[in-house]
Amino acid sequence: MAGRLADKVAIVTGGASGMGRSGVIRFLEEGARVVVGDLNEENGNTFIEELNSKGFGNSARFVRADVSDEGDTRAMVQSAIENFGRLDVMWNNAGIGGAFGPITDVSVEDWDFTFAVLVRGVFLGTKHAAKAMISQGTGGSIINTASVAALGGGLAPHAYSGAKAAVVNFTMTSAVELGPNKIRANAILPGGILTPLMHQGKPEEAGKVFEEIQPIGRVGVGEDIAEAALFLASDESSFISGESLKVDGGLMAVGAKLWGRLAGSEKAHEVAGVNRGTTGVRSEWRKLED
Ligand SMILES: NC(=O)c1ccc[n+]([C@@H]2O[C@H](COP(=O)([O-])OP(=O)(O)OC[C@H]3O[C@@H](n4cnc5c(N)ncnc54)[C@H](O)[C@@H]3O)[C@@H](O)[C@H]2O)c1
Repeated sequence: MAGRLADKVAIVTGGASGMGRSGVIRFLEEGARVVVGDLNEENGNTFIEELNSKGFGNSARFVRADVSDEGDTRAMVQSAIENFGRLDVMWNNAGIGGAFGPITDVSVEDWDFTFAVLVRGVFLGTKHAAKAMISQGTGGSIINTASVAALGGGLAPHAYSGAKAAVVNFTMTSAVELGPNKIRANAILPGGILTPLMHQGKPEEAGKVFEEIQPIGRVGVGEDIAEAALFLASDESSFISGESLKVDGGLMAVGAKLWGRLAGSEKAHEVAGVNRGTTGVRSEWRKLED
C-alpha cells in the first residue's frame, strides 16, 4: 500500500484508546501495518473489529501487553515480527495518571506503579524495539509520549511530572546511543488533549478549561498527536532525533503570565513605546487609540 508509512511496521502501545488509537488509524491510512499493544483487552478487541470493518483487517493485530512487564514487551515485539516480518516504528505511548495527592500522603506502591508504567514501560519498549531494529540493520524510529508536565511544576501531580521528565531525558540518551544504528528517538509532549484519560467522563468541562488556557483557543484532540507521531515515524523526519516536540496549542509559551502583572506593565495593552532602562535616556510611551 502506498503512503507516508508504506512498507513500515509499527507498534503503538496504549493503542486501544485516546491518542494512541488515533495514531493507529492514521498509521494504517498511510500504509503501515500496526500492532496495537494495550492492557485493556476489551477495548483492544473491539478496536480491531472496527478496523476489520474498515478494511484494515490484514494490517492490524491486537496484543494484550502490560508495558511495565518485560516478558509482555518482548512478546509484543515478537508478535510484530511474526505477523508482519519486521519492526520500523515503536511508539511508547501507554500511560496512566498515576499517584496523586500531597507528597506527604503518597504511598511507595503508588509512586513505584507510576514510574513502572510511565518510565520502565518506555525503557522496555525502547530496549526490545532497539534489539529488533539493530538486528534488522535498517534503522528505525522510536517515539515516546511524554507530556508538557515534564517542563514545570504545577502542571500535573508530582509523580506523573517526574516520570514524564525522565522520559524526556531517556529519549535524548536513547538518541545518542542508538544514532549510530540509524535509530532515531523523539518525544512528543502533548498539552491538554481530550482523551478518556484527561476528561475522565466529563469532556465538555475539561474541554472548556483548555479552550481558555491554550492560546490556540481549543482543546487538543487525539488526531493532533497522531499527526505529530506520523511525522516522527515517517522518513520526512529522518534528520530529527533527540527532539522533544511540544504539541500543546501554545500552552507552554504562555509561561507564568507575568507580563501585565509586573509593576509598570499593568497597562501593557493600553500603551506602546520603548523602555530604555537605567541608561539615563528617557523612556517613551504613547497612549493607544481605542
Ligand atoms: N490526554 C492528555 O491531555 C495527555 C497530555 C499529556 C500526555 N499524555 C500522555 O499520552 C499518553 C496517552 O494517553 P491518552 O490521553 O491517550 O489516555 P487513554 O487513557 O485514552 O489511553 C491510554 C491507553 O494506555 C493503556 N495503558 C495504560 N497502562 C498500560 C500498561 N501498563 N500497559 C499497556 N497499556 C496500558 C490504557 O489501557 C489505554 O488504552 C499517556 O502516556 C499520557 O500520559 C496525555
